[in-house]
Amino acid sequence: MSDSATPRHVAVIMDGNGRWAQARGLPRKAGHRAGAESVREAVDACLDLGIEFITLYAFSSENWNRPEKEIEALMKLLEQFLKTKGKEFMKKNVRLRTIGQTHLLPDSCRAQLAKVEKETANNSALTVILALSYGGREEIADASRRIAEKVSTGELSPEDVTKETVAQHLDTAEFPDPDLLIRTSGEFRLSNFLLWQLSYAEFFISEKNWPDFNKSDFRDAVEDYSRRHRRFGGL
Ligand code: FPP
Repeated sequence: MSDSATPRHVAVIMDGNGRWAQARGLPRKAGHRAGAESVREAVDACLDLGIEFITLYAFSSENWNRPEKEIEALMKLLEQFLKTKGKEFMKKNVRLRTIGQTHLLPDSCRAQLAKVEKETANNSALTVILALSYGGREEIADASRRIAEKVSTGELSPEDVTKETVAQHLDTAEFPDPDLLIRTSGEFRLSNFLLWQLSYAEFFISEKNWPDFNKSDFRDAVEDYSRRHRRFGGL
């Protein structure tokens, strides 16, 4: 179990795969492949540290605007990742969940996702949440639409709509808000990630590109969070 100085939920913007590849004269997809390896490092770090939830920004709503070849490579990588992770997640007692407009993903990816989600549904050491075809504004708009539908049928009255109502209609309804956001490659932007849920999160920006961000970097980020948390906990 996590103590008060350990984040319960860490969210990660895995940025810099393209730059990592470019610096090595490799195609962008090689950067994404190396990035998938870093996901394993992050998952193992969470298990070691007793973190209960990790949300990974794997494919944003805006990523659909990338060249078709890159989208194809990312989808193929996701499918391969899921094929290998199924077993590993069972061994490590990890549960897989997703957020985002996953109905937009190719059928083959959706089938793999459904399979691994089902297989790992009762695992309890860590929940890995993949944000796929995810955008914070899209998520809030979708939640608003669902609430509006309930108001129009009389299931909800307008006065009943509170911030809790909104939270309960987001994709993340069943998860606690992230305590810590890690973003790699030195960028200071939210990029439409968990706009509602990150309201009170601490931010940690690393200069490293995601494929170089290893277990020990993840530990350092959590240690930095814990130091800040202890300082404020004493006030
Ligand atoms: C940002 O790097 C990263 C992405 C758009 C995709 C993230 C995907 C992975 C880490 C690999 C796959 C993950 C799973 C879970 C299978 P970028 O391409 O924007 O890098 P750049 O800013 O340097 O161009």
